Amino acid sequence: MKYLIINGSPRKKNTWSMVKQAKSNLGEDAEFEEIQLMKEKIPLCNGCFKCIMEGEENCPHYEQINQIIEKIRDCDGLIIACPVYAMNVTALLKNLFDHTAYIYHRPEFFDKKALVVVSTAGAGQKKVANYIDETLRHWGFNKIYQITYAFGGNEDISIEEINKVSQKFHKDVSSKKLHSPKFGDIIFYNVWRTITPKSESMKKDKEYWERTGLVNYEFAPNVKLGFIKKCFGKIMYFILNKVIK
Ligand SMILES: Cc1cc2nc3c(=O)[nH]c(=O)nc-3n(C[C@H](O)[C@H](O)[C@H](O)COP(=O)(O)O)c2cc1C
Repeated sequence: MKYLIINGSPRKKNTWSMVKQAKSNLGEDAEFEEIQLMKEKIPLCNGCFKCIMEGEENCPHYEQINQIIEKIRDCDGLIIACPVYAMNVTALLKNLFDHTAYIYHRPEFFDKKALVVVSTAGAGQKKVANYIDETLRHWGFNKIYQITYAFGGNEDISIEEINKVSQKFHKDVSSKKLHSPKFGDIIFYNVWRTITPKSESMKKDKEYWERTGLVNYEFAPNVKLGFIKKCFGKIMYFILNKVIK
């Protein structure tokens, strides 16, 4: 299995020690590639809207961003590591996320799974892990596992917990089995599905949803919904079409 690790910390220390422990559970045959965002020196998103309105290839930082996106496309499992900075993700990781705003509009990673690793001194680890989780869901990710730890607390780091979660992640990535989406994911999907064909200004979104055929489904067709969620998707789409003009 190919794992891509994106490190949102400027250093390889606390969060990285958790990643190292997690890596030891990802199988003998695991191949790892690392992206140290600190070394990538990606300029700040300048808010030009070109990725969203004209297509991501028009982003002034396209080459740097796209080589990361291609690596995500190519991996079996993604690991995102990040410390808590001022109760949020680091600017390094946020800058990468800002450059991927277009993927919220044109989600594609429906068959991907991720492990989110967050460390902190004392607070914010769960909130930050949930934020990264939410971002990946907007990208289309199928399943996200989380490992969090506060290095300044009284408790010793739980190696057992890291092992338990990373073993589950490994098993899941290896299985290639896709999970049924959450109801919230179905709602988001159907909001975009409703908006994009109606929006003349969002030509790139419209083109994407039509070209991929996603506009025709209650959720990405490679992910099985089951009867109830399929009905839920149909009802959501019906209601949203009435509400969104
Ligand atoms: C600029 C900066 C901001 C931080 N903000 C917080 C914070 O808001 N809450 C907290 O509990 N720890 C905070 N920390 C502590 C780090 O989250 C913590 O030391 C983390 O384990 C560092 O991970 P790393 O060694 O992988 O970089 C901050 C550290 C730095 C350098």
